[in-house]
Amino acid sequence: MKLLVIGAGGREHALAWRLAQSARVQKIYVAPGNGGTADRYPLENLPLQDTDALIAFAQQEKIALTVVGPEAPLAAGIVDAFRAAGLHIFGPTRAAAQLESSKDYAKSFMQRHDIPTAASRTFTDADQARAYVQAHGAPIVIKADGLAAGKGVVVALTLDEALQAIDHMLGPDGKFGAAGARVVVEDYLEGEEASFIVMCDGQHVLPLATSQDHKRLLDGDAGPNTGGMGAYSPAPIISPALHNRIMREVIQPAVHGMARDGIPYTGFLYAGLMIGEGPDATRPLKVLEFNCRLGDPETQPIMLRMKSDFLETLEHAVNGTLDQAEIVWDRRAAVGVVLAAAGYPDAPRKGDVITALAPDTETCITFHAGSAIQDGKRITNGGRVLCVTALGDSIRRAQQAAYDAVNLTLFEGRQYRRDIGWRALTDHPRHD
Ligand code: AMP
Ligand code: GLY
Repeated sequence: MKLLVIGAGGREHALAWRLAQSARVQKIYVAPGNGGTADRYPLENLPLQDTDALIAFAQQEKIALTVVGPEAPLAAGIVDAFRAAGLHIFGPTRAAAQLESSKDYAKSFMQRHDIPTAASRTFTDADQARAYVQAHGAPIVIKADGLAAGKGVVVALTLDEALQAIDHMLGPDGKFGAAGARVVVEDYLEGEEASFIVMCDGQHVLPLATSQDHKRLLDGDAGPNTGGMGAYSPAPIISPALHNRIMREVIQPAVHGMARDGIPYTGFLYAGLMIGEGPDATRPLKVLEFNCRLGDPETQPIMLRMKSDFLETLEHAVNGTLDQAEIVWDRRAAVGVVLAAAGYPDAPRKGDVITALAPDTETCITFHAGSAIQDGKRITNGGRVLCVTALGDSIRRAQQAAYDAVNLTLFEGRQYRRDIGWRALTDHPRHD
């Protein structure tokens, strides 16, 4: 059987790597792929980005199933186009992908369906937004309404920062262009973040293992926001009681709400949660955002822990029988450490030679993202270059194994956090 994975990141490498373990898989094309998916049988890169060209290829090569990684092609309607051409594809339609592509749509959806989230107002006029922020005070959160590659959110700790963000997004020299034409101004929430990702077939829901990301560039959660500097699974903060609450208060209302709105949700659904202090039965639980896809780098540790045949799960997902699917997880923990290029996130440098990679083993894999092969050499080719991901009997052991492998991974200017997993090492018992 031939499969197609759309995307070029570490998430897509991890997806393709896991699918490659399935006995029925003959070939996996990754479009456009990266330096880790190029030359490792049965993976092969496909230098196509255009939807029509991808559809023609899938028809010609009799691709049995396509899985989409990033949000941009989903928001552009790749799922609708593949389905119209009679092809099997797993992901949300363009209408459903608005849960991520429009913050304003997501906020009004959550309000309509009683899904807990921070109170907010949407503005198109800079003066009105400024007046609201001035009356409200800081801290406050300003979000561009539209896909901004994870860079459209400003958590303003002072009034000045908030006003500056509004000027950037709505003012005449608007930094975000069309994406910044509307802003959502939202109450600031305190707590611990966790990623809760499920698979949906329009009706049924199958949760994946829980995970936590590290959004800031520097140790101790300092520095600018990034796409994510490392992740681990499971997230110890999500106890069985909290898991039930998330399913009941967030996921079920979201999936049923989409169906009731006439936009049945198919695909991965990612709830970014803020969990406040308190006993599990009553602690505040709010949705920061929905993503219409898997997380990156959360997918890397999640895929390393997945033991069952992922192709089978995906087949249930496209056939509408996810209620009959089960995923078996490795009881061990996994930690993934991202190595980013010099200059990331503002101006990542490309073209540094990756002079050493840790050897892949049964318990430690280097997933590639911004890497490419040029003249037989692996070079850096983007912001987040690699995600070194390892299993261990505890988060601490997994962390040690991941950093042992990071020490063997060399390229000029590499940046990485030394503390991936720190929250899980402190105050939580393990629940999985
Ligand atoms: P988002 O893209 O909406 O997830 O926002 C990116 C990051 O900004 C989140 O992962 C949080 O760290 C932070 N953030 C977003 N919304 C809020 C909020 N209402 N309160 C505090 N932090 C937030
Ligand atoms: N790691 C956060 C995201 O994928 O949105």
